[in-house]
Amino acid sequence: MSGVTLRSFAKINLGLRIGALREDGFHELRTVYQTIGLHDLVRVEAGRGVGIELRANHARVPLDESNTGYRMAERVLRSLKVRAKVTIHIEKQLPVEGGLGAASSNAVAVMLGLERALRREIPAEHKLRLAAEVGSDVPLFLVGGMVLGMGRGEEVYPLEDFTPLDCVVATTATGVPTAQAFRDWDELQSENLSRTRMSAPHNAAGKLTAECASDTIKMFSHSVFSWLRGTSTGVSARGGDRAEALLLDLVRAGIENDFERVVFSQHPELREVKRVLEGEGARYASLSGSGSSVYGLFGSKVKAQQAGRRLAQRGIRAQATMTMPRRQYWAKVFVN
Ligand code: C5P
Repeated sequence: MSGVTLRSFAKINLGLRIGALREDGFHELRTVYQTIGLHDLVRVEAGRGVGIELRANHARVPLDESNTGYRMAERVLRSLKVRAKVTIHIEKQLPVEGGLGAASSNAVAVMLGLERALRREIPAEHKLRLAAEVGSDVPLFLVGGMVLGMGRGEEVYPLEDFTPLDCVVATTATGVPTAQAFRDWDELQSENLSRTRMSAPHNAAGKLTAECASDTIKMFSHSVFSWLRGTSTGVSARGGDRAEALLLDLVRAGIENDFERVVFSQHPELREVKRVLEGEGARYASLSGSGSSVYGLFGSKVKAQQAGRRLAQRGIRAQATMTMPRRQYWAKVFVN
């Protein structure tokens, strides 16, 4: 029996724009993922026999075929044409349904752990395909660092990393199921459509919403481009001492998370967390994914720690961490 332990890092979304609902039932989206230092621990063991067994230290982690780690293990064994008894232990530290990609990251940890435990490798292209089958935001964890996400989120492109930034992640007891958040978004869009119908000729209204969805996507690409190029401040925001400029650029470029429009109205306490983070000097604060985690990026560790304390005083769990560039991510994924 050989076993491998991995850190299964979390991500945050630096902006997320939801486009049109596609024929496959997914929404077109654009986002910038960023891996951060918070993580679960995943141990993968492979031995003689058959079957996949899951263990977790958290009651809300499913231990059956619906678990992303289980689904990944099945695919890896099939792809490598290997029979083995696989045991997966998940030590959950990240919130469940927290918008931090924890379950997706667990799946990638299982893939990497199994490859190592079985001493076999899956070609990179094939790994990305298997990851996309398990979930839209699984492939990003095969890249790490700052990653552009397109398509339904599964089309990933590595972006040039910036210097690590201090980050505070606040988690409340609220869990937001992603599929529900997308449905709520669709509902909001159809309410907007009915309002437009009242003021626009009948056939023009549908065209308007379709155009609006595609404009949203185009505008995001434009904002991300100007943010990454640092054009909005007229200076290059790359490089060691320019973290502050980069954060200001991010705000000025107007990069937002569309899910805030549905999730904040249903969970006003999350909007309040964002306000507290901004009040404590966050240069950029946002809901991550469809929530429920809200994070703030800070120009200094002192400010980040102070914000963490302020949230804790209000009874909100807040953890201080750093954004994690690609090189560091890969250096730390394997514990042994
Ligand atoms: O891909 P994943 O399993 O994470 O998606 C969960 C659900 O979220 C999907 O079944 C779909 O309803 C919704 N979703 C979507 N558009 C995306 C990603 C997810 O509608 N781009």
